[in-house]
Amino acid sequence: MLRFGVLGCASIARRRMLPALADAAGIEVTAVASRDLRRAQETAAPYGCASVEGYDNLLARDDVDAVYLPLPTGLHAEWIEKALLAGKHVLSEKALTVRLEEAQSLVALAQAHGLLLVENFAFLHHSQHAVVRESLPRIGEIRAFSAAMGIPPLEPENPRYLPDLGGGALLDVGVYPIRAAQLYLGSELEVVGAVLRRDPGARVDVAGSVLLTTSAGVTAQLDFGFIHAYRTVCSIWGSQGSLELRRPFTPPDDYPPVLRMEVAGEVTERVLPADRQFVKAAEAFAAAIAAGTDGAQILRQAALVEAVRSSARWVDALH
Ligand SMILES: NC(=O)c1ccc[n+]([C@@H]2O[C@H](COP(=O)([O-])OP(=O)(O)OC[C@H]3O[C@@H](n4cnc5c(N)ncnc54)[C@H](OP(=O)(O)O)[C@@H]3O)[C@@H](O)[C@H]2O)c1
Repeated sequence: MLRFGVLGCASIARRRMLPALADAAGIEVTAVASRDLRRAQETAAPYGCASVEGYDNLLARDDVDAVYLPLPTGLHAEWIEKALLAGKHVLSEKALTVRLEEAQSLVALAQAHGLLLVENFAFLHHSQHAVVRESLPRIGEIRAFSAAMGIPPLEPENPRYLPDLGGGALLDVGVYPIRAAQLYLGSELEVVGAVLRRDPGARVDVAGSVLLTTSAGVTAQLDFGFIHAYRTVCSIWGSQGSLELRRPFTPPDDYPPVLRMEVAGEVTERVLPADRQFVKAAEAFAAAIAAGTDGAQILRQAALVEAVRSSARWVDALH
């Protein structure tokens, strides 16, 4: 059994990842930590595990082999480093870090200690993406990819509006379409151009658009933000047809996704099985412990995010 501790009683931990860790084969949740003991106790209770006040105290425990880290993005680097130095494997929420150089030093640290470090893009484990990959030959050669993730504005005190906590739409929602573009177009993508929309009140980017390209000129048009009606989509346009997924990133566990395809003028909509992508992500993590950290994908993602940020044209968001 891989014994997991959870650092912080985040919404994503309570709603999705703790239930998934509890159900995943070969994994046991042994402790939940919070800055506030009562919150740790409430969160730990359904799982019958230890509740711990303070993240350092969880990292000091002998009954924790790996930690799940769902802190605000700007705190990831500090706590990933502490967890690795405490000898724990780390499953960190996306975005792994704010800066590329932080990701580079953490990957090197994990590798030096023979520990596993993974950025939790759970959607990669949903079977709907395996079906899309099997279906790709039907649409011919890929000419263009597009993806989007947008959510409505958050409550003003949300850490996503705070630059010091790694806020901003690029790091919060933009990372999904950027990761999906690599899934379908491969790893050698370059940033052609980007726009980030700054909210003068919030001091962070609240929306953005990115154009990526492969060396062969296959493009990815990506849009994201939190000034939008809720929408997630991923579509691939080929020489013989096109296909589209409407809930490619965070579908509920019981949601049966729909794959829409158009080939030679014929439109089909295929309802796919629901899947528990967080359970699968946890089980994939446990299975990868022996192999250790292959940081290549973490670094490609962080490099693309950094290239988007450094090449973006910044404009003020209009409401
Ligand atoms: N994979 C996915 O599908 C998915 C979905 C949503 C979010 N996420 C990622 O998961 C992470 C957490 O997102 P969330 O929306 O779940 O976060 P959240 O509800 O705001 O929770 C973050 C937790 O971090 C802890 N924390 C420590 N210092 C903090 C500080 N200064 N300010 C606020 N919280 C602090 C708190 O736990 P205690 O008070 O208990 O210590 C808090 O509950 C982010 O990196 C986000 O990008 C991933």
